[in-house]
Amino acid sequence: MAESAEIVGRDRELRQAASTLRKGSNLLITGRAGIGKSALLRVLHELMGGERPCLWVPEGTAKEQAYALARQTHEHVGLRVPETLIPARFLGRARREGVHWRWVGRAIRRMPSRDCVQMVADSLEASAQPVLVFMESLELPPSQAEQFAVVLEVAQVAACMDAANRRERIRRLLWRFPEQERIELRPLTREACREIAERWLDEHPVRFESDRVRAAFLRAVEQDSGGVPAAILGMLETAAAEPEVTRATVRQFSHEAGVTYVDMTPVVILGVAVVIAARYVARGVGSAELYVLAGIGMGLAVAIRFFVMPMMGRR
Ligand SMILES: Nc1ncnc2c1ncn2[C@@H]1O[C@H](COP(=O)(O)OP(=O)(O)OP(=O)(O)O)[C@@H](O)[C@H]1O
Ligand SMILES: [Mg+2]
Repeated sequence: MAESAEIVGRDRELRQAASTLRKGSNLLITGRAGIGKSALLRVLHELMGGERPCLWVPEGTAKEQAYALARQTHEHVGLRVPETLIPARFLGRARREGVHWRWVGRAIRRMPSRDCVQMVADSLEASAQPVLVFMESLELPPSQAEQFAVVLEVAQVAACMDAANRRERIRRLLWRFPEQERIELRPLTREACREIAERWLDEHPVRFESDRVRAAFLRAVEQDSGGVPAAILGMLETAAAEPEVTRATVRQFSHEAGVTYVDMTPVVILGVAVVIAARYVARGVGSAELYVLAGIGMGLAVAIRFFVMPMMGRR
C-alpha cells in the first residue's frame, strides 16, 4: 500500500483499518482528543474511495449531517427522491433522465432530518454496490445517534470516537462495531513526532536563533508533545508566531509541558486516618500532648482539604 503523504507513523494502523474495511466489517477508531483519528479516517476515505462508493459525514448538527449524506448519496449511488419533492415542471425530465440536485436540493435541506436520513438509508439499501459511510465523530447527542442508527442497518460504517465519549448515549450505534475491529490510536513515536515537525518546518518559515536552538526545539517537540499530533502542531504554531525562536522560548515549552499535577487526595486521606488514630492512642495512654497535636493535625487536614485543594484544582 502506498504510504500516505498526509500522516506520519500510522502505516500499521492504516493497513489494519483498510483490511477490516475490505473484509466488510464496520470499523471504529478510538483515541484521545487530537491523537489523529480524523486524519486517519480521511486517509482511509481517500484510499477506499478508489475502490467503492464512499460517503463522508463531517461533524455537525443532525440537519447538516443528514443533508451531507443526501447530497453524497445522490452523487455516488443515486438518491431515491420521492416525486413529491420534485417541482412539477421538472417531473417529466426527472422521469426520463433522473433527478438533478439543483431541482431538489432546497427541498431536501428543508426536510426533517430524520426523514432525510431514512430516504438516504432506503437509497443505500437499494444500491447495487455496497456503500461505505465514514463518520467523523460518534460524539453525538442521543437523538442524532438514533437518527443515524438506520444508516448502520444498511451500510458499512467507519467512524471515530473520542476515548472519553459518554458511551451510554450512543449504545444504539456502538454495538454495531465489534470490539475486535476497533483500532485504538496510541501516541506517536518520537521519530514520527520529529518527522511531523521537520515536514512542517520545511513548509513554514520559522526563524531560529541558531541551529542548536532548532535542534533543542525539535527535541522539546519530541519529548513534550507526548506523541499527540495536535500538541505538536500547537507547539509549531506557537513557535511560528514568534519573530525568532530563542533558547528561552524552547525552555518555556519544556517548562509548560513538564508541569504535572499530582493528585494529593490519597495523601490527605491517609493523613486524616493517622491523625484520628493518634487521638485515640492519646486518649488510651492519657497523653495530653499527643491529643493536642492530633487536634492540630486534624485542623490542618481540614484546612488542606477545603481551602488548599480547591485552589489547586482551579487553575
Ligand atoms: N499521523 C499524523 N501525521 C501528521 N499529522 C497528523 C497525524 N495525525 C494527526 N495529524 C494532524 O494533527 C491534527 C489533529 O489530528 P485530528 O484532528 O485527526 O485528531 P482527532 O483525534 O480527530 O482529534 P479530535 O478528538 O479533536 O477530533 C490535525 O491537524 C491532523 O492533520
Ligand atoms: Mg477528529
